[in-house]
Amino acid sequence: MATTPAPAQDRSAVRSLLRLWPYVRPARVRLFSAAFVAILASCVGLVIPLVLKWMVDGPIAGRDPGGVWLGALYLLLLGFAEALLFGLRRWLVARPLTHVEASMRAGLYRHLQRLPVAFHDRWASGQLLSRGTTDLMLLRQFLAFPLTFLLVNGVTIVVGVVIMLLQDWTLGLVVLGPAVPVMVTCLVFEKRYAQVARQAQDQVGDLTTVVEESVLGIRVIKGFGRHRSQARAFRDLSRTLRGTELRKARLLATIWGVIVTLPEVAIGAALVVGAVQVADGALSAGTLVAFLSTALALRWPVESIGFLLAMSQEAAAATERFFEVMDEETEHTTSERAISGHTASGGTASEHTACIARTGAKDLHEMGLRFHHVRFRYPDAPPGTPPVLQDVDLHIRPGESMALVGATGSGKTTLTALVPRLYELTSGRITLDGRDITRLSREALRAKVAVAFEEPTLFSAAVRDNVLMGAADTAGTADLERALAVAQADFVHALPQGTDTRVGEQGLSLSGGQRQRLALARAVVGQPEFLVLDDPLSALDVHTEAAVEAALRQVLADTTALIVAHRPSTVLLADRVALLSGGRIAAIGTHHELLRTNAEYAHLMSGETSGEEEGAR
Ligand SMILES: Nc1ncnc2c1ncn2[C@@H]1O[C@H](COP(=O)(O)OP(=O)(O)O)[C@@H](O)[C@H]1O
Ligand SMILES: [Mg+2]
Repeated sequence: MATTPAPAQDRSAVRSLLRLWPYVRPARVRLFSAAFVAILASCVGLVIPLVLKWMVDGPIAGRDPGGVWLGALYLLLLGFAEALLFGLRRWLVARPLTHVEASMRAGLYRHLQRLPVAFHDRWASGQLLSRGTTDLMLLRQFLAFPLTFLLVNGVTIVVGVVIMLLQDWTLGLVVLGPAVPVMVTCLVFEKRYAQVARQAQDQVGDLTTVVEESVLGIRVIKGFGRHRSQARAFRDLSRTLRGTELRKARLLATIWGVIVTLPEVAIGAALVVGAVQVADGALSAGTLVAFLSTALALRWPVESIGFLLAMSQEAAAATERFFEVMDEETEHTTSERAISGHTASGGTASEHTACIARTGAKDLHEMGLRFHHVRFRYPDAPPGTPPVLQDVDLHIRPGESMALVGATGSGKTTLTALVPRLYELTSGRITLDGRDITRLSREALRAKVAVAFEEPTLFSAAVRDNVLMGAADTAGTADLERALAVAQADFVHALPQGTDTRVGEQGLSLSGGQRQRLALARAVVGQPEFLVLDDPLSALDVHTEAAVEAALRQVLADTTALIVAHRPSTVLLADRVALLSGGRIAAIGTHHELLRTNAEYAHLMSGETSGEEEGAR
């Protein structure tokens, strides 16, 4: 499957995280209030040592039990207040942050739906899946916790240090001693951790891809007894991920070691110096108690900085990964640009109809579906490979059905995908009734053109919904029945709940031929002007095929259609046949004409099954 584009090298965690602002904005009042409440709670905690000092120097030194009880009451109240405020913070952020996560997830999904097929060819599905799940969860956790606490702990440390310096500045300086080495360690660590965090998240994406592919391909894996090698591939990847996680843990352990040890040593030193000063009478016992309990109260804010930074780095990597997808241009932006560009040169919808009316019969050769010098190369094709379609010129007249025949890999599927603009042409034009498809909005284009793909995909939904997906919202049961009749899909009435039976991954499994017939029903249900069918009958038995063909013939009578075909019986549905070979239309004519005049065509039609099997995977 596809690979993932390499991440940008030069990055700043802060700049990445700032991009979250539009999503966080709706929650800003609550987030700021929560931060304020948390700072308040932390500062309440810092008052506790001052009460201790008052108790030690006052009631305890004066042997006044009443005063001690009063002090204890104060401490209890302060503790309560601190706990209450931290609780309030949690309550403030929980709801809006789940909302932020949900809206980011919805945004990502919407964007993925609008990204062109070429994007999905390029990106592994697991990478997209992990972005929508693990990464967004990391972001919510970051917003809920590290974001607030980096601020809160920063403020707490500053306030605490000021209090300590005010108590006794020499002791304060002793405790502040390790600040510089700790900060240097943090900086160095942060850079390395950022790289490893990104690596780990990408590896989670790769792992997700393997799991997803092996679930989807379980029949192949079992059928070929490949579960061992698949398990080995999974084990290797998960071992790599484990290695990366261990590196993360080692980096965290280093920083943790430095961040915990140095301040502890400093506090020990301050204790010794302070005790000597108290013995000398230069310092009150209460001040030393207050000083040390402030220092101890600062232990958690200082120690937590290490993993708060680590979590922030992970969140920055997650943000980056999220925006790598969100920054990709969607079909809608590209088509709008194309439309506005063309409008500037004079081509609105009403002008177009007027134009056709004016030119009338003269432009009849423009009507129908036309390919003008179409050249197409897959955006992700390796450099140097020739385009799949070199120069395709083809005109399907209004109401005509054209069969498209060609060897496996000749580009038939590719050509059909170009009509609904699943891919953009490399050069050339495709026109519908004389109108360039790039001038139509995607909605208008896809309302005119219906497609049935080679691999019929059903969604986890009722049969009815799967079929009506191909029609406007107003379509009803009558349309459904008509489409099912054309596709000879009467079998649905025998399903447990008829057309309401759930099919697809979460529902009833259908056979290949049954799925193909539903996909065909989906293509014809909207009575499209243009019908593009990529080998729509390949999985049907001879009798069903004949029945579908008979019914399809009526639909094709007044539809302009392009039908990829392999068997003479399908080819005979069409008025004319085009042979695709070497990236060009090599011959056009009726089936019998081509059989007589074109050796390649005759070969394809005679060896119909052997040709198929060569290309089968
Ligand atoms: N998404 C893709 N990206 C790059 N190359 C592709 C893609 N899909 C198909 N191709 C290549 O384009 C060629 C034509 O494929 P296709 O149109 O599916 O052939 P056909 O339907 O005639 O059997 C093949 O060589 C195939 O490898
Ligand atoms: Mg094909």
